[in-house]
Amino acid sequence: MPEPQRQSDRDLSPPLAERYAATRRLTEALAGPLSEADATIQSMPDASPAKWHLAHTTWFFETFLLRDRLPEYKLFNESWPFLFNSYYESEGDRILRPRRGLLSRPPLDGILDWRAHVDKAMKPLLADPAHAALIELGVAHEQQHQELLLSDIKHALFQNPLGPAMWAVPEPTTRPTEKAVDWHEHPGGIAMIGHQREGFAFDNEGPPHRVMLEPFALAGQLVSNGEWEQFVADGGYRTASLWLSDGWDWVRRRRIEAPLYWYEGEHFTHAGWQRRDPWAPVCHVSYFEAEAFAAWAGARLPTEFEWEAIAQGHDPAAGNQLDRAEPPLPLGGSSLFGDCWQFTRSAYLPYPRFRPAEGAVGEYNGKFMAGQWVLKGASCATVRGHSRASYRNFFYPHQQWQFTGVRLAKDL
Ligand SMILES: [Fe+2]
Repeated sequence: MPEPQRQSDRDLSPPLAERYAATRRLTEALAGPLSEADATIQSMPDASPAKWHLAHTTWFFETFLLRDRLPEYKLFNESWPFLFNSYYESEGDRILRPRRGLLSRPPLDGILDWRAHVDKAMKPLLADPAHAALIELGVAHEQQHQELLLSDIKHALFQNPLGPAMWAVPEPTTRPTEKAVDWHEHPGGIAMIGHQREGFAFDNEGPPHRVMLEPFALAGQLVSNGEWEQFVADGGYRTASLWLSDGWDWVRRRRIEAPLYWYEGEHFTHAGWQRRDPWAPVCHVSYFEAEAFAAWAGARLPTEFEWEAIAQGHDPAAGNQLDRAEPPLPLGGSSLFGDCWQFTRSAYLPYPRFRPAEGAVGEYNGKFMAGQWVLKGASCATVRGHSRASYRNFFYPHQQWQFTGVRLAKDL
């Protein structure tokens, strides 16, 4: 019998096998309220069906762990890798992304059987430290897809004029009452940026390197719905001078007048249409909108380096993050983490001396470093424990469907 894995004093997280099992269970719990039809539909090319997320996360473990490292393993179904490979060129051809919503087969039950089959086959690998790093990557990958599953199904259900809810209206929550500092001030100087500790991080978070900062301040709270309503009422969406040129084109072409999911005094949530809380953080805004709001407010967005220099002293597991299968809703509070991912004005680029990992998993991050912006923090749909100060999320500047909000910065 193998020795149980000992944890170092510094690593207080549960053993990998437990985190693997908890992650796999939570993904299924998130999809639990969905009908077969809910889980199959795809509302736009950027989003994937819930059923596809359940399958693709399983494909990752079956391909890179079971197929590649367990010689006697036979694929559950030889046709499925073509359906559930996302973007790995080294894994060959795959179905076009906008066509994922046409996969009425295999049925949801078949995908859940595949998940159970893979989980059983993974057992010996989970106990072998030789596979720990790749399994950590698979767990972190599935956690990312949990958030995508939540944002994608929200967008899909929003298309339905009936405004369906996948969970009941949540109990009224008490807003955190601690007084947030107005601004976190930083004197400037040389900051060490990037993942510097033990423990898992994605390749795009390193190598650690020095960055020169000028004196600045980072807002103690996210921009609220109430503040955003003032921006709308003040003609923010109709004032060209507030917008980047590409942003102004986007607003006019798409006739954008408010954050995604807003209608009059309500917004669409996983619990259907709800009244908007003016004190809660604004969510589902694009980089273009964040830039325009900052200009209107006489401030600016932080750089990713400024944000990280402040966040290094803060608990990344604090704040409003996902603990269980329930409607994710921004609440507000003083934590830098949670509620909404926060746009920075930093382009998503490789850090000095960055090299993508060897092999297929080298396609994970590096090849997306063009035309996207870095977001920091975590959201109410990010599973607690997933994020870090060095974490770099990234999206295109027009995208609104993720749990994205705004934290302002200013020069000192
Ligand atoms: Fe993926």
